[in-house]
Amino acid sequence: MTATKIPLLSLKKQQQKIGEQLRRAALRVLDSGVFIMGPEVKAFETEFAAALGSRFAMGVSNGTDALRVALEACGVGPGDEVVVPSFTFIATATAVSAVGAKPVFADVDERTLTITAQTVRKALTPRTKAVIPVHLFGQPVDMDPLLKLAREKGLAVVEDCAQAHLTAYKGRTVGTIGDCGAFSFYPSKNLGAAGDAGAVLAQDEKRAELCRQLRNCGRETGGPAYRHVRVGQNCRLDELQAAMLRVKLAHLREWTDARRAAAGRYLDGLKGLPLRLPELGSGGDKHTFHLFVVRCQRRDELAKHLSERGIGNGVYYPIPIHRQPAYEKLAPKAGSLPVTEAACATALALPLFPELAPAEIDEVCAAVREFFGK
Ligand SMILES: Cc1ncc(COP(=O)(O)O)c(C=O)c1O
Repeated sequence: MTATKIPLLSLKKQQQKIGEQLRRAALRVLDSGVFIMGPEVKAFETEFAAALGSRFAMGVSNGTDALRVALEACGVGPGDEVVVPSFTFIATATAVSAVGAKPVFADVDERTLTITAQTVRKALTPRTKAVIPVHLFGQPVDMDPLLKLAREKGLAVVEDCAQAHLTAYKGRTVGTIGDCGAFSFYPSKNLGAAGDAGAVLAQDEKRAELCRQLRNCGRETGGPAYRHVRVGQNCRLDELQAAMLRVKLAHLREWTDARRAAAGRYLDGLKGLPLRLPELGSGGDKHTFHLFVVRCQRRDELAKHLSERGIGNGVYYPIPIHRQPAYEKLAPKAGSLPVTEAACATALALPLFPELAPAEIDEVCAAVREFFGK
């Protein structure tokens, strides 16, 4: 096997740069003796909301719980249907199942690889209660037509922003556009903790308090310790993770700019090849490139060619959710999600992380060009 020269993702350089700050923050928490629902979580929630232009942010234990809490806070429960893409990480659908509702799969758009008002409309039934637009890979969903449809049909909109920290749609930060935004801080995400973590954004005060209760065993904020006003779960963000996130949040803008600069260099370097390329975004739209995903008809051959040259690559996602054994029973009829199926057969992620050097990007582009004999 060839040793990896340019990894798909590496956190090493980031750790070298901010390791000391992280260690100091971790020690601050350890020395404080406060580990749950203390000042770090409170400060992170304030800072994260401010960075994204949100009224409220509520820390939770991971991105899946963020989606689950958001859905529950929007009144989604047993007997309801929620429209989701099938071309996404499985948590988008499992969060729906976790609240007792049924995920219904909509196809994605050929250009953005995200659901649209048109594809969602086809999946609506009288039981549809909500829709989850996923800003996949950092690409914003076309939200305006989707919001219009949601308003017309009385649907809640929960944005899945697990891969889209600071992504913008027409100048607005995603996660602040729908009824709730759900974020993951899994370590490899654009903003990653030192373990599992997540957050929910809400703009409505009552809904924000509902999220706080749902993540904290059904307790009212500021209420007595053993009084529970609803059936909630324990899915709190902890102090250590909040402290790690505060250190990294201060770098998020700079890292996002670096991701976009790297993507821009790829777009130049890969021009003219038989590849479908992502777009940087214009008119206030801003892709934040959690992953740089190209589409190639000879995807598996290209992946092999790159791996043989020590260039990391990855398939996101090889199997659509509606074809997963876990969701066999909910599979729509064969051929009803053609763009999703095509994306799973052609999508390939190339190395991209903020510290990736321009020379490394050029080397990846040269290897891709070599593959096509150009
Ligand atoms: C699109 C999407 N939704 C939801 C999640 C779930 O987040 P977590 O792994 O933090 O539970 C992830 C990430 O893993 C994701 O990529």
